[in-house]
Amino acid sequence: MGKSSQLPYLSRLPLLFLFLLQISTTWAASNSVYETFVQCLSDQTKQPDLISKIVYAQNNPSYTSVLQAYIRNAQFNTSSTPKPVIIVTPTNESHVPAAVVCSKKNGLQIRIRSGGHDYAGISYVSDVPFIILDMFNLRSITVDMNEQTAWVQTGATLGELYYSIWKKSKVHGFPAGVCPTVGVGGHVSGGGYGNMLRKHGLTTDNVVDARIVDVNGRILDKNSMGEDLFWAIRGGGGASFGVILAYKINLVSVPETISVFRAERTLEENATDIVYRWQQVAPTTDENLFMRMLIQPSTSKVNKGAKTIKATIIAEFLGKADDVVALLGKEFPELGLKKEDVKEMSWIDSVLWWNQNNGTPEFLLNRNPNSADYVRRKSDYVQTPIPKARLEWLWQRIIENGRPGMVFNPYGGKMNKIPITETAFAHRAGNLFKVQYSVTWEDGGIEAENNNTAQIRNLYRLMTPFVSKNPRSAYLNYRDLDIGISHSGSYAEGKVYGVKYFNQNFDRLVKVKTAVDPQNFFRNEQSIPTLSSK
Ligand SMILES: Cc1cc2nc3c(=O)[nH]c(=O)nc-3n(C[C@H](O)[C@H](O)[C@H](O)COP(=O)(O)OP(=O)(O)OC[C@H]3O[C@@H](n4cnc5c(N)ncnc54)[C@H](O)[C@@H]3O)c2cc1C
Ligand SMILES: *[C@@H]1O[C@H](CO)[C@@H](O)[C@H](O)[C@H]1NC(C)=O
Ligand SMILES: *[C@@H]1O[C@H](CO)[C@@H](O)[C@H](O)[C@H]1NC(C)=O
Ligand SMILES: *[C@@H]1O[C@H](CO)[C@@H](O)[C@H](O)[C@H]1NC(C)=O
Ligand SMILES: *[C@@H]1O[C@H](CO)[C@@H](O)[C@H](O)[C@H]1NC(C)=O
Repeated sequence: MGKSSQLPYLSRLPLLFLFLLQISTTWAASNSVYETFVQCLSDQTKQPDLISKIVYAQNNPSYTSVLQAYIRNAQFNTSSTPKPVIIVTPTNESHVPAAVVCSKKNGLQIRIRSGGHDYAGISYVSDVPFIILDMFNLRSITVDMNEQTAWVQTGATLGELYYSIWKKSKVHGFPAGVCPTVGVGGHVSGGGYGNMLRKHGLTTDNVVDARIVDVNGRILDKNSMGEDLFWAIRGGGGASFGVILAYKINLVSVPETISVFRAERTLEENATDIVYRWQQVAPTTDENLFMRMLIQPSTSKVNKGAKTIKATIIAEFLGKADDVVALLGKEFPELGLKKEDVKEMSWIDSVLWWNQNNGTPEFLLNRNPNSADYVRRKSDYVQTPIPKARLEWLWQRIIENGRPGMVFNPYGGKMNKIPITETAFAHRAGNLFKVQYSVTWEDGGIEAENNNTAQIRNLYRLMTPFVSKNPRSAYLNYRDLDIGISHSGSYAEGKVYGVKYFNQNFDRLVKVKTAVDPQNFFRNEQSIPTLSSK
């Protein structure tokens, strides 16, 4: 892979400086920084024997495998990707305050990594000397069936959480993302959603308490951190405010039997009618029904070799097959859904089904370390249905454009009932669906990267007339450095991406940030700025 993988971070720096930076980062890794840092951690924790086992300098034989284990975008797995001076892998919560205090003392930036799924890699890449605080060992999950709650440490994966709930109850679940290797830390703090969104809201809407380490190394819970900070770390992302150790969540009830189905149509099979109608039905129908829609360039089965568009509905209904067939028979007759198209299963089996797996729930415990595709994602919100004629125009442009596709995720239901100010997550009533732009490729060097990047940006540009404006909103968890990037940490730079991610909630996030981290220690390419930063 070529150097361009770093462009988002480094394009502003002259090449020579870059080169020097890389050498000096390597030098910094040499014994002196490592030793000062370890000494500091030992002083802070009074556990010298343990500390050396959880700290990896660049010359440690395990450094590379620890670094690569939770890289989830292969674009940032190259020899020229900037590397941390040190990786710290806490095995007890008390190591986290120590790591914060010691990285501050040593002038090292901190990057917090839970599951590593950040699309732009900002949990493990930085262009200044930095450490990674890697949370994967802090992954205990305590389910309390009396309270119907769980405490989940942020290094846990969604798959581990689903599995732990299933072990205790077959009629409880949790409304979070589809992919089981996604980490709790980034997912919950950035909003998080899955196929129960319309019934139960965002992942973060189901959070009732949290534990966070602040910039002074204090461990705070909901009461001691105060309302404002607790508000901010539900949708505003964690990395601007501190290190979140754990979230306490409410479990939700799920029926013993739920239903899933998948339906595919190409243009020759009236895909345009289906997509048009979907825009009316999916965001307004019964909140037990979540119908995701994939739009992909494809080849025609009818006209051999001709290009077409394939629209795929992937759906989950919290109820019986007969009921969803009857519901859609009324609301969406164009789909012609029949009982034999629908599969009934338990909630945990539906989690596997969404991952095209029909094995046992143990599948969810597989962390699948050190594996990644080359990916690029962007996001948008659609607030008025796209007319049929415009869809037809769009299909031709998508076909001409090349490989990228889109995923439409319907809102409505519970999302319309939660006020915008309830949490930091601002995209609620008024949005019909969220668009995820998506392109994934195999290694192909800098050319493949440039080509795919150009194509996905072009698709995003083509969608301009159909999506939210002023601001053109985006979803924080679909990290996209194209919408703005902070070089200096200034308020002005932060506002560019800040209002897109958080709309009117941005101002309150800035106030919280200014109060809890006035020196802007916790920062990254898209962190919340402080009020005073120039
Ligand atoms: C394959 C795949 C599938 C996905 N599916 C979904 C989906 O179904 N629904 C959905 O909503 N999103 C989905 N996402 C997006 C996902 O929610 C975000 O990428 C999320 O931020 C990942 O969390 P993480 O802990 O794995 O990531 P990381 O890369 O570890 O972290 C992401 C961000 O959060 C910060 N952070 C992480 N842990 C902490 C912590 N403990 N304290 C403070 N800050 C922290 C990081 O520093 C970084 O800024 C998916 C992503 C991928 C790659
Ligand atoms: C682990 O961390 C907790 C703080 O969450 C602390 O109370 C406890 O003493 C620590 N245990 C060890 C062995 O350091
Ligand atoms: C497409 O629509 C036409 C007219 O509405 C209908 O006759 C035909 O059966 C549909 N085709 C499919 C595959 O649904
Ligand atoms: C990173 O690259 C190495 C080869 O250098 C490969 O073995 C590993 O699987 C890759 N990991 C990821 C997450 O891409
Ligand atoms: C980009 O990829 C497409 C195929 O998706 C190909 O047709 C085109 O030639 C490529 N362009 C460049 C500049 O590599």
